[in-house]
Parts: sequence; C-alpha cells; structure tokens
Amino acid sequence: MLHWYEAERRDLPWRRTADPYRILVSEIMLQQTRVDTVIPRYEQFLARFPDLAALAAASLDDVLAEWSGLGYYRRARSLHAAARAIADEHGGEFPRQYTPLRALPGIGDYTAAAVAGIAFGEPHVGIDGNVSRVLCRYFGIAEAPTRVAVRRLLAAAAGSLLDDHAPGDVTQALMELGAQICTPRSPRCVDCPLLLRCVASADGTQELLPVRRKQTVVDVAEAAGVVERSGRFLLLRGQRPTVLADMWEFPTRDSRLREAVVAEDTVDPADDLRSYLAELGQGSVTLRHLGEIRHGITNRRIVCAVYRADAGPTGSEPVALSAKLGWFTPAEAARLPLAASAKRVFALLGVDA
Ligand code: ADE
Repeated sequence: MLHWYEAERRDLPWRRTADPYRILVSEIMLQQTRVDTVIPRYEQFLARFPDLAALAAASLDDVLAEWSGLGYYRRARSLHAAARAIADEHGGEFPRQYTPLRALPGIGDYTAAAVAGIAFGEPHVGIDGNVSRVLCRYFGIAEAPTRVAVRRLLAAAAGSLLDDHAPGDVTQALMELGAQICTPRSPRCVDCPLLLRCVASADGTQELLPVRRKQTVVDVAEAAGVVERSGRFLLLRGQRPTVLADMWEFPTRDSRLREAVVAEDTVDPADDLRSYLAELGQGSVTLRHLGEIRHGITNRRIVCAVYRADAGPTGSEPVALSAKLGWFTPAEAARLPLAASAKRVFALLGVDA
C-alpha cells in the first residue's frame, strides 16, 4: 500500500509541509469539504493567517469572514480557539501527542489522531470516512462504524497496520485508497494493492461494507381488498415491483406516508383500492372495513387496512395487467407461494390458508 501511495499520491498542498499548523488547518477544512474545494481556500487562509501566532492574534470575526462560503462555521471557531489555547496555554508550542492535542478546544478524535500521526509521526491514524470504509472492507468488519465499540475496533485495526512505518504515510495512504480505489460504489479492486488480503473482496461484499447503522424506517399505509366468489378468493401475483413480486397477495394498494412524498399523501388508500378493484374487473364495489394488519418488510413499517369488497353487478373484463390474477379456495391458496400478509388476511377472515 505504501509503494502504491508513493507512486499514486496526489500532490496536495498540505502534503508539501511538515508544519503542524498547516496540517491542522488542512485536516479541519477537509472534514466537511471536498479536496478540490479546499485547495484554493486553504492557500488563501494561510496567506491571511500564515502561522499559529497570526491566527491566535486575529479576531474571531476576521477568521469567520475568511471561512465564509465553506460552511460548518463551527470548524472556524474550533480552529481559532485551538490556536489561542496553544498560544496561551502551551506558550505557542504545538502539542505533539494525541492526548494534549485532543484536550484542545474543538479538537476531536479525528483531528487529534490525524495531526499526531501526520505532523509528529505519533502512532495514530485519523479515521475519516474514507479510512473507515477501507478498514471495514479490508478486515471484513460488518458492523456500523458509527458505533463507539466499532470505532475503537477500527482504531486498533489501523494501529495494527503501522508496524514501523510512518503513521502519517499510512494514514494518508488509506485516505488516498479510499478516494481513488476503494470508493463507496464500484471500487476498483483489480487496481488495489490490498486486493490479495482484503476480506470483503474475497467475500464479494465490498459494496455491502461498511454497513450503515440502521435504515430509516418508512411508514406505509396499505389497503387490501377481499373479493370472494363462490368460496374462492381473488389473489394476484406480481402486482407490485417489490420483494413480494413472486408472491400471491390480495389486491393491495399502498400510499407512502413519507413526509417528502406530498402528492401521494393526499390519496386515501381505500379510494385507491376501489378504483383498482374496478380495473381488476370487479365493477363498483362497496368496501367494508374488516380490520388492520401490521407488518414490516425491510425498512417499511406497514399498516394494512383490510376491506371486504362486495362486488357490484357491473363487473367487466380486467384491463391489461402485468400481474397474474386467480381465484382460489383457502386450501388452494395454502399451496401457493403466499405473501405472509395474505396469510394474515385469511386469518382475519377466520379461515386457514
Ligand atoms: N482528507 C482528510 N485529510 C486528508 C489528507 N491529509 N489528504 C487527503 N485527503 C484528506
């Protein structure tokens, strides 16, 4: 990896210096901002505040003004406060070790580790998003790196890579791999110097790692219709392009209740179900509420209102459907690949399927 880094590293301004002040500025700017955006702003910031003393002597307003447009202004306040603390409490002498760096105002785990490793060669690796992705894949860590216990594990895993190599090079090589090769999507594993030892690439799980802490849950309201003719029930297969595509279900409509999807919120699933049943050839039906079933599929929390649909006399041929449609007794339905929710609807009706 270090040979690869030596050959492939981008020539970035903060890689041309050993000045801890300049490295601190870069690591704080890079926390929420892309490299391309940072480069000109970094140069400009250093032209204005060329060293620690200049930054410590400046007013917060001047620092914030210089930061303008970069966003996340808390970073500018932190940088300014850290510069003042170094000037006032450390006699202008930059702390070299992780612990006193971490104790500076506004300096977190990442910044303290990155500066200790890159500027002072201390055995610490700053673990940012790129580094954590590389480590999760390389070591096959299938737990969310946002968890505290996993962060500790990652720090230990990164430490195990240091041997007697320069920690700053190991850190930046990991960052560079994350930026150039081990990208979130479609990583270029064939070009990766870690390929032969990478757990995720051996398992083919590189796009599944790192795992996210938890998917956000989406609330979905559904309406399902029970249409019965001579003891047979209308079921559909493939009515929705979901994980249930191959399963038989009662005619079902859903309307996502996600806040963002305003247009769909205004549709009452029962109204939607009524017109859907008409499309299925059931004419104009009367809906009678039978009850509700609640279930979950992957990240969806579903509340399904179940209606008995008494068909009107004006049934017609169903309009062109991509779904398959069939009439089944409960016993026949029991032999189909039946969606779990359909079983629950049968249970609601008091019949076994
Ligand atoms: N992102 C955060 N720190 C970095 C560094 N030193 N080089 C490249 N990208 C980075």
